[in-house]
Amino acid sequence: MTIAAGAGDNARPYLYGPEEAGVVEALRSGQYGHTAVTDRFEGEVATFLGVSETVAVASGTSALHVALLAAGIGPGDEVIVPSMTFCATVQAILAVGARPCFVEVSPRTLCINSGAVLDAITADTRAVMPVLYGGRAVDLCDVRPALTERGIAVVEDAAHAFGSYNGAQRVGATGALTCFSFGPIKNLTCGQGGMIVPRNPLEADRCRKLRGLGIVESAAWRAEATGYTVDGFGLRVQMSSLNAAIGSAQLAHFDKAETKRKALWRAYANALRGMDGASVVDVDVERSVPHLCAVRVHDRRDQVFRTLRARGVGVGTHYPPNHLQSAFAAWHRPLPVTEQVGREIMTLPFHQRMTEADVETVTAELRQSLAQTATR
Ligand SMILES: Cc1ncc(COP(=O)(O)O)c(C=O)c1O
Repeated sequence: MTIAAGAGDNARPYLYGPEEAGVVEALRSGQYGHTAVTDRFEGEVATFLGVSETVAVASGTSALHVALLAAGIGPGDEVIVPSMTFCATVQAILAVGARPCFVEVSPRTLCINSGAVLDAITADTRAVMPVLYGGRAVDLCDVRPALTERGIAVVEDAAHAFGSYNGAQRVGATGALTCFSFGPIKNLTCGQGGMIVPRNPLEADRCRKLRGLGIVESAAWRAEATGYTVDGFGLRVQMSSLNAAIGSAQLAHFDKAETKRKALWRAYANALRGMDGASVVDVDVERSVPHLCAVRVHDRRDQVFRTLRARGVGVGTHYPPNHLQSAFAAWHRPLPVTEQVGREIMTLPFHQRMTEADVETVTAELRQSLAQTATR
């Protein structure tokens, strides 16, 4: 069987067309830093999410870093986080000098739940970072009062979940400090970029200063002034107008991302239903804009993975557990569920250039490789 082009990549960006004109216009304006184009994009995302303001930054990782700093998380503090996430989540915790407290995920959703959070709280816990795996919202409503009472912030890693709903509201609009990634392969891309949804105007101000070297005044104000004020620590992680122009063009077509990603995920779920040896990780497709289609391959994932890659099918692994990484060994604790998931997880090709025929090809190849490896 020849693998159709769409099934050969695990993920790839999708451009709708107007991104190019947006970038050219931004380039011709002669200013490429944080400009009015970035301000406009922030406003568009805020309107889309139904929130009062957002803060654009250079990446999802810098969104997490800035958000943790803005929430006052620092040395000596502990942050509850699933081990089943991209290493960026953990690096952001280390960047502020805090310690990760790794917790288990539900094997069905690969997300944390309230019980795991409550069990992990210690006297040092200052934040919880739910990771919205595959685009699925994490609802911690039932433990919010307990967290608030102890001064524990919820900082959502919603890198996968732009556009998804948590109940009746979009992720980002439920009162948590939320961080999105607009990296190359995300539901919405800026090329590179990230966005923070702060919890209040004061926190928004803190985020803006932290992303801009601790400078109090806006870039627009500084252009007209003879000085500026630095009143604290700051990073250099603003979003350039070139990236904002791409994001703005993407957002105008986001309904297409929503429709296509849901349709692809549903096509996979139907094709995989009842398949021997592999089960799909549930992303709550009714409410989510899926970012990944992950399956758990029982027994022999590595063999199946190698067979599929050799056949040209772009499978991936999201993620090798973080508590097993040497860089994070100081915070290792046994997490048997996550370790088993880590041995079983495999992501199938999932991006907007794919057709439903590609989905059929991938699932046929998966079925065949499961059958082949079973008889060896
Ligand atoms: C779960 C998760 N968190 C954080 C990030 C970091 O985002 P970025 O690559 O934009 O820095 C990613 C990116 O892939 C991610 O998947």
